[in-house]
Amino acid sequence: MARIISPSMLSADFGYLADDTRMIDRSAAEWLHIDVMDGVFVPNISFGFPVLAAIARETAKFLDVHLMIVEPEKYIKRFAEAGASLVTIHAEATGDLPAALRSIRALGIKAGVSIKPATPVWAIADVLPLCDLVLVMSVEPGFGGQQFMPASVDKVRELRRLIDGQGLATLIEIDGGVSPANAGMLFGAGCDVLVAGSSVFGAPDPLEAIEQMLNAE
Ligand code: DX5
Ligand code: ZN
Repeated sequence: MARIISPSMLSADFGYLADDTRMIDRSAAEWLHIDVMDGVFVPNISFGFPVLAAIARETAKFLDVHLMIVEPEKYIKRFAEAGASLVTIHAEATGDLPAALRSIRALGIKAGVSIKPATPVWAIADVLPLCDLVLVMSVEPGFGGQQFMPASVDKVRELRRLIDGQGLATLIEIDGGVSPANAGMLFGAGCDVLVAGSSVFGAPDPLEAIEQMLNAE
């Protein structure tokens, strides 16, 4: 299993976005997590294509784009053009999930599906072969700095069994309330990728916080 940290740029200082991006570029984190919010799917608005493109110019890291928007299929191509390496869409946000996932892969990038805390794993069980990644939300999407929801760990374990049982290479990512205090437990439960916003950018030494999560037991 992989051990990847994906710092969430939602917690970066947008006045110094290039500096914060270059800081993560120098870190042991392999990915950068980009949270796109539309004020409809979630009660918050973050940023869109130009900001993603600006981040992409400052880093060679894998760009993990989390779309918290309705009708994501309308915008997938533009996120790919702006530099996304992976586009994750919400199962709750689209009418035809298999078609949307296929259209992401057709652009030559990786496809992910995400589920909110109230959405069960069985809702996405059938589309696992179409996904490079499943993102389990461990907070209600919309804001950084919320408290981790422990029930999400059971979903990770269930997904691990399903993915391994089908012999798939789909990665499991978790997002919300992740810190050095729970990183070891999350990797142990079957996560491959940990998203961390406030615990990285709010740390006295963000690069050290990333190392702590990578090496957590
Ligand atoms: C929330 C976003 C998260 C957020 C995580 O909707 O999807 O990626 O940035 O922030 P923390 O790590 O602070 O919980
Ligand atoms: Zn996210």
